Amino acid sequence: MTGLPRGLAGRTAVVTGGAQGIGAAVTERLGAEGCRVVVLDKSADHGRAAVDAWRRQGRAVHLAVGDVTDQQAVQAAFAGVPAGWPRPTLLVNLAAGFVFKGLEATPEEWHAAFDPTVIGLSLVTRQFVAGLPERDADAAIVNMASISAHIAQSGYLTYNTSKAAVLGFTRCTAQELAPRGIRVNSVSPGTVWNANNERYHREVLGLDRATAEAAPEHGGKFLLGRFADPAEVAAPIAFLLSSEASFITGADLPVDGGYLAV
Ligand SMILES: NC(=O)c1ccc[n+]([C@@H]2O[C@H](COP(=O)([O-])OP(=O)(O)OC[C@H]3O[C@@H](n4cnc5c(N)ncnc54)[C@H](O)[C@@H]3O)[C@@H](O)[C@H]2O)c1
Repeated sequence: MTGLPRGLAGRTAVVTGGAQGIGAAVTERLGAEGCRVVVLDKSADHGRAAVDAWRRQGRAVHLAVGDVTDQQAVQAAFAGVPAGWPRPTLLVNLAAGFVFKGLEATPEEWHAAFDPTVIGLSLVTRQFVAGLPERDADAAIVNMASISAHIAQSGYLTYNTSKAAVLGFTRCTAQELAPRGIRVNSVSPGTVWNANNERYHREVLGLDRATAEAAPEHGGKFLLGRFADPAEVAAPIAFLLSSEASFITGADLPVDGGYLAV
């Protein structure tokens, strides 16, 4: 355990999209804080590889392979929490639809953007809440938005509107769930240097990380002049879940190297 943030050790967390990228960093961080973690991810291959590695380190991590848009899979994931683990009181919703289209987007593409990011978010949240007591649940949820939820970006209509919906979902569920002692917040990261972004910059733009970060239109657009590491997003998520954030709900925390400040 790192000593901070408080109030996480011994609890059970569910992390959707927890097998890779930012989700894997969240799983890693919550495990380091002494949480048991259920990873709900549709990728069996990545999920098994990641969970096997964490277990070899002695972490309590359970893999539920399933798609967040599949109500039965979501129910099964919560029903399959290992015996002896406390009921989940922490939830991190990261699974999303990565569809980058403008007005030309077809209905199928709109569904591919919205179904995981918004419908899946609602299914998982509903199932999580169903397992909590009616009052004094002492539970917390963090949803994944993005700087894209706050701004216009050319060719990003589908993604940005789905992420803007996450902000609305967060505020409305914060209001609905506050009387039960459940806090709901979101984070809005800028570009995070994960495997997908590394591949995109290398294969599409022909840039390595250092060159991309030095470019004004890439890393240079963040006040701090660089991209984030996944662990730099996992840390504020752990904070928002913890008792350090006990009076924070309905909020969105930019984790964007100052991008939204200017
Ligand atoms: N990478 C960035 O720069 C960045 C910036 C801001 C916000 N985000 C957001 O952070 C989150 C994670 O992004 P990432 O870049 O780490 O992604 P990633 O592709 O590295 O990992 C996403 C994980 O989610 C899983 N997943 C996807 N759809 C799913 C579904 N329907 N059901 C269950 N699991 C599903 C995938 O299998 C994968 O393991 C997303 O919500 C993304 O929009 C990312």
